[in-house]
Amino acid sequence: MSLQAAQNQSATPPSGPAPGAGKALYGGKSTRRITVHDIAAASERGEKWPMLTAYDAMTASVFDEAGIPVMLVGDSMGNCHLGYETTVPVTMDEMAMLSAAVVRGTKRALIVADLPFGAYQEGPVQALRNATRLIKDAGVGAVKLEGGERSHEQIRLLVEAGIPVMGHIGLTPQSVNAMGYRVQGRGEEAAQQLLRDAKAVQDAGAFAVVLELVPAELAAEVTRTLHIPTVGIGAGPDTDAQVLVYTDMVGLTGGKVPRFTKQYANMRQVLTDAAKEYAEEVIGGTFPAAEHTFH
Ligand code: KIV
Repeated sequence: MSLQAAQNQSATPPSGPAPGAGKALYGGKSTRRITVHDIAAASERGEKWPMLTAYDAMTASVFDEAGIPVMLVGDSMGNCHLGYETTVPVTMDEMAMLSAAVVRGTKRALIVADLPFGAYQEGPVQALRNATRLIKDAGVGAVKLEGGERSHEQIRLLVEAGIPVMGHIGLTPQSVNAMGYRVQGRGEEAAQQLLRDAKAVQDAGAFAVVLELVPAELAAEVTRTLHIPTVGIGAGPDTDAQVLVYTDMVGLTGGKVPRFTKQYANMRQVLTDAAKEYAEEVIGGTFPAAEHTFH
C-alpha cells in the first residue's frame, strides 16, 4: 500500500477498531495479542513493521519482549532448526509442534505458521484441514502459504472459513527443485506475472503478502498497487514490512548467508566462546565452584 493510498483511506480497519488499535505495532507491553485488524490499521497509518521467524518458545519469548509484533513459524525451520537441507521435508507434525511452542512462549505477537510443502498442494480442502489444525491445536493466529495465482483457491477457502492468510510470492523456497534460488520477477513478462500473483493473493482475501527475492523497483510497484501490506525479504526498502530469518539475523547460521540478510549479532561466536570456556573449566576442575555446590 502506498502512503498516498493510506492517506486516502479511513483509519478504521475493516471490521472496526480492535482494543488498543492505533498504537504502534512495534514495541509496547500490550496484554492482548496483535490481530490482523491491527496489521491493517498500521498499514493504513503508513507504519512499517518488522517480522522475524521463531521456532521455539524461549527465542520467541525474547522477541516478544523486544516488541516484535509478528512472528513467523516459517518452514525455514527445515534448514534453520531441524537440520534438513531445505524447507521441503518439513511435516505438518513438526510445524504443529513448533508453532504451539512459539504460541506458548509469547503473549503479544501475532503468530503466523507456514503450511509446509505437501500440506495444501492437493487443493483447498486439504489446505483447510491442515490450516484448521494449526489454528485449533497449535493456537496460531494466521497461516502462510506459497504461490500466487496457483494458490488463490486455497487462500479463498481458508479466508471464507475465518482463517487469516498471509500469501508468499516471488521466490517460493518450497519450489526450489523447480525454480532454484534466484531473484524473481526480472524482465517484463516475469514482472507482469508477479503483479498478477500479488493481485490474485489480495483478491482471494489474504491480509498480507511476502515478497521474497524480488527487484526493489518491482516490490515498490507491487506495494503501491496493493491495498494489503507487503512484507519484503530481499525485496528492497519500499515494502510495508520486512521479515528476516532469525538465525541469519542473529548470526547463528553457519556458512554463507544471503546478501539481503543483515547480521545484527554474532551468536555463533557467543555460543562457541561460552561452550569452550565451560569445557575448559570442567577439564581444569574450576567448575563447579563452591557457589554451585550443595552440602
Ligand atoms: O519460512 C520462512 O522463513 C519464510 C520467510 C523467508 C518469509 O517463509
